Amino acid sequence: MKALIFRETGEPKSVLNLAEIPTPPLAPGEALVRVLLSPINPSDQHMVRGRYGYQPELPASPGAEGVGIVEAVGPGVQGPSVGTRVVFVDTWNTWREQIVCPVDRLVPVPDGLDDPAAATSYTNPLTAWALTRSTHNLKEGDWLLQTAAASSVGKLVLQLAQQYRFKTINVIRRRDQETIIRNLGGNEVICTADEDLKAHLQALTAGKGVERAIDCVAGELGAEVARNLAPAGTMLVYGALSSHRQTDPAKFTMPLFAPRLIYSTATVRGWWLPRWVRSQPLAEVRAATSELLTMLSSGALTPPAIVQYSCKDFQEAVRLADGEAGQQKVLLNFSKDRSRVP
Ligand SMILES: NC(=O)c1ccc[n+]([C@@H]2O[C@H](COP(=O)([O-])OP(=O)(O)OC[C@H]3O[C@@H](n4cnc5c(N)ncnc54)[C@H](OP(=O)(O)O)[C@@H]3O)[C@@H](O)[C@H]2O)c1
Repeated sequence: MKALIFRETGEPKSVLNLAEIPTPPLAPGEALVRVLLSPINPSDQHMVRGRYGYQPELPASPGAEGVGIVEAVGPGVQGPSVGTRVVFVDTWNTWREQIVCPVDRLVPVPDGLDDPAAATSYTNPLTAWALTRSTHNLKEGDWLLQTAAASSVGKLVLQLAQQYRFKTINVIRRRDQETIIRNLGGNEVICTADEDLKAHLQALTAGKGVERAIDCVAGELGAEVARNLAPAGTMLVYGALSSHRQTDPAKFTMPLFAPRLIYSTATVRGWWLPRWVRSQPLAEVRAATSELLTMLSSGALTPPAIVQYSCKDFQEAVRLADGEAGQQKVLLNFSKDRSRVP
């Protein structure tokens, strides 16, 4: 089978290769899944560059999300049956034509949901869901501040806010993103290009500061949000977009203002999906993934706009996903049925 492999860390376009590797054997409790589509997420590129929170033993394939069809099951497996369309939870190595994984890491896809929507139903939707519904445990009427609010995760948070009736303060860096936020029901918008974040937050919270925030920018912006947390407020830092494609170590720091942090007794906490997943009972992760698939299927959540590339055109795909894809998610197509590639 074909697999995108890296044998050393480095720039994805230089170190990734499309290789022919043997199909792995099946053990009890496992399934062999033919991968149809797998997205290119920022975390995949971080892993290939050697700067992700988990680095596999090399050679390895990137990829931690996708949709596929069960082709065979190992001894003693009750289900899913051969032919079932599934998505993966807590699974690595998805940038290949076939993967073998434990059946409890597979969640069936509802019939009405198309392959691209299913392929992007795990990493970002579950991140948005877990940050808001699990770790922050937001209730109806609670307020949440989010940075990079027009990002893929940010837009999912906005849609979950409509479902679960929490309210959002949305920080963006370009005014033309305000329409996206408003159309998705965002309550407040702060654009750092032409507004003072602190002054606006102080006005919105009557000087108290925000109680709950999620931040995927870090750097100076993340630090400024932390400086505006309410007493005992909590900010979850789940990304560092300000450091993407940077090599200067100074760009990876977040200059927290110590007196404010001390006297507000605020919490600034890192948050990472794979660690959250491992901290939960697998049945709950599967249930949350199923719930998100149902929401995507019913239209309660909108999947991202996508662009597909055949796996043989991976170099163009990783280049596009590294900044130029804009609001589109880039998907790698591993299906032998090329009609699935537009
Ligand atoms: N911790 C976890 O487990 C986890 C899980 C999922 C995602 N993430 C992280 O979450 C982040 C967002 O992922 P995504 O897939 O939603 O990203 P995305 O769809 O590619 O969106 C990026 C967005 O962020 C904005 N942005 C980029 N750099 C910025 C900066 N320096 N300051 C302010 N805004 C900036 C962009 O605005 P412009 O249009 O102005 O460029 C764009 O709206 C990534 O860092 C990703 O690695 C983490």
